[in-house]
Amino acid sequence: MQVLSVASECVPLVKTGGLADVAGALPGALAPLGVEMRTLIPAYRNVKAAMGNGTTHDLGPLFGGPARLIEGRLGEAVLYALDAPHLYDRDGSPYLDAGGQDWADNPVRFAALSHAAAQIATGGIAGWQPEILHLHDWQAGLTPVYLRQMPGGAGIGTLISIHNIAFQGMAPASMLSAMALPREEFTEGGFEYWGQISALKAALTGCDRIATVSPSYAGELLTPEFGMGMEGILTARRDDLSGILNGIDTDAWAPPYKTPRGKARHKKALRREFGLPDWDGPLCVLISRLSHQKGLDVLLEALPALVDHGGQLALLGSGDPGLEAAFKRAAAHEGVGVRFGYDEALSRRLMAGGDAILVPSRFEPCGLTQLYGLCHGTLPLVSRTGGLNDTVIDANPAALGAGVATGIQFHPVTSSALAGAFARLHVLWRDRTTWARMMKNAMAQDVGWDVSARAYAALYKDIASSK
Ligand code: ADP
Ligand code: GLC
Repeated sequence: MQVLSVASECVPLVKTGGLADVAGALPGALAPLGVEMRTLIPAYRNVKAAMGNGTTHDLGPLFGGPARLIEGRLGEAVLYALDAPHLYDRDGSPYLDAGGQDWADNPVRFAALSHAAAQIATGGIAGWQPEILHLHDWQAGLTPVYLRQMPGGAGIGTLISIHNIAFQGMAPASMLSAMALPREEFTEGGFEYWGQISALKAALTGCDRIATVSPSYAGELLTPEFGMGMEGILTARRDDLSGILNGIDTDAWAPPYKTPRGKARHKKALRREFGLPDWDGPLCVLISRLSHQKGLDVLLEALPALVDHGGQLALLGSGDPGLEAAFKRAAAHEGVGVRFGYDEALSRRLMAGGDAILVPSRFEPCGLTQLYGLCHGTLPLVSRTGGLNDTVIDANPAALGAGVATGIQFHPVTSSALAGAFARLHVLWRDRTTWARMMKNAMAQDVGWDVSARAYAALYKDIASSK
């Protein structure tokens, strides 16, 4: 089975969030199951520089300039980078310019990615053709629209994965022709959304199947609270929607110790690095985009409930300048240390040195940092939502009695509920036997890709057999 995975980011070449980890891990996880997955991403300036001179495949003109694919490797698998300098050869992040604003031509930049995917699927590369296109988020969302316009396109299976429904790929209707979109599909049943073009909606209405990254989020997406306007379409297509939990690359994220005792040395070093005193309390860590989604404003309000009882916080984040400033102020208090920017090596030191990892998200399709936390014996303290609900076993009396707890869940995402969770954290911390048991449980939990890779392989097969 041949599958082309289409994403706007992919480790190790380009990453702003969890999507990159997932896109980077899928081909390796699927290969043992007989799925040959190749990956298509844009050749952003840094990606192109990292790839060097590989084989290239000409795609012809694409939205105002020449385009070709540069062939490279993603581990054992093939990676295609879409080289279209007029769209991607710029400094800045994949989505934002140097001033932190969305690139004005983002709709066209990712329409091009989607168009290239459809070209590859319909014979654009000599010698290789996928049976299935696995599309990720809105950036790949227009693919089924282009596919329908190409000869042979109807025979290709399509799956859209929703990693975060907050991003819907909106563009004004005036861009229809600039994006080479058929006006007759600019309808409620197509990709029209409140008078605008929505690339995500194009995928939700146009793909054979829909997946999201946890079973809980799949259910939440059907509600107005979490569906963000797409709950109606998703409810209509609920029989085509599956929730498949993300895994992590357990080799790449293996802790630098084998047993819980190994953590002590790393914790000491982390405290030193963050200038935190040697208190006998839980050292909490947090690694996150600083955005409303992640509930960090709520954490700021609840911080006294952590710190006043001997707990500490070491935070690494980047994003919202207002949140950054607020955490800077919080760091004036003893027991709180912060670092800003994107720093993968530091994120690993935090995982290794922390006692607990905080994920107080308002919504969380899956979440990866709690999974890294589990395998490091860094107990997750999380809001009860989305993938956090599916991956952390709350230390309630039943779970403690059965000896299976791995963390703490709280609900709703309010400062008082989070303060309550911190109170529970302190109680658990003082019960050394229970804490040690929970660390052991966490480190033993299966957070790899095996189960979910099998679920994807079965889903691809299902889609292919329906074509
Ligand atoms: P999201 O994709 O919503 O940001 P996830 O938990 O799925 O949330 O994935 C976030 C990924 O990005 C994790 O691998 C996390 O370690 C990483 N990450 C987030 N912020 C930073 C940062 N400031 N420095 C390093 N890694 C970060
Ligand atoms: C999104 C979600 C996150 C998920 C990641 C990978 O960025 O916010 O919860 O883990 O995608 O699927």
